Amino acid sequence: MAEVMLEVSELTTKYITRFREDVYAVDHVSLKVEEGKSLGIAGESGCGKSTLALSLMGYYFAPLHYTSGEIIINGRNISKMNPDDIRKTILGTEIAYIPQSAMNALNPTGRSSTLLKTWFKHTIHMPQEGDL
Ligand SMILES: Nc1ncnc2c1ncn2[C@@H]1O[C@H](COP(=O)(O)OP(=O)(O)O)[C@@H](O)[C@H]1O
Ligand SMILES: [Mg+2]
Repeated sequence: MAEVMLEVSELTTKYITRFREDVYAVDHVSLKVEEGKSLGIAGESGCGKSTLALSLMGYYFAPLHYTSGEIIINGRNISKMNPDDIRKTILGTEIAYIPQSAMNALNPTGRSSTLLKTWFKHTIHMPQEGDL
């Protein structure tokens, strides 16, 4: 049998809105991904696909909060792990999230100076050496 790379059981996560309401976007979700296999998740807009993808990385930031359930990545249960440890040891190496329109989004590994230069180049005319 192929090795299970990702196993999620009964994962529940919620958004806590600024009005202190709980929005359970991921409610008791279980799934398994074996090595060499792909899993597609389909559903209408707003059903919780993106929230599920974010949630199963085990790294939460407000207004999204972990509630219950388990996430096992390559045999390691990350559900109760410290967020900083998850960020240092799991994210980007064991699991990663590629958002929609990723090619248009900010590259988190790029230098800020390169980003600013690109932005200036495409928005305003910067004097070049030959112009002066
Ligand atoms: N920051 C947020 N605060 C409260 N509710 C949210 C927030 N982001 C998303 N939601 C709600 O969570 C649900 C799932 O959203 P989402 O995961 O983006 O769906 P999908 O990716 O399937 O379109 C939606 O009902 C949405 O309104
Ligand atoms: Mg989405």
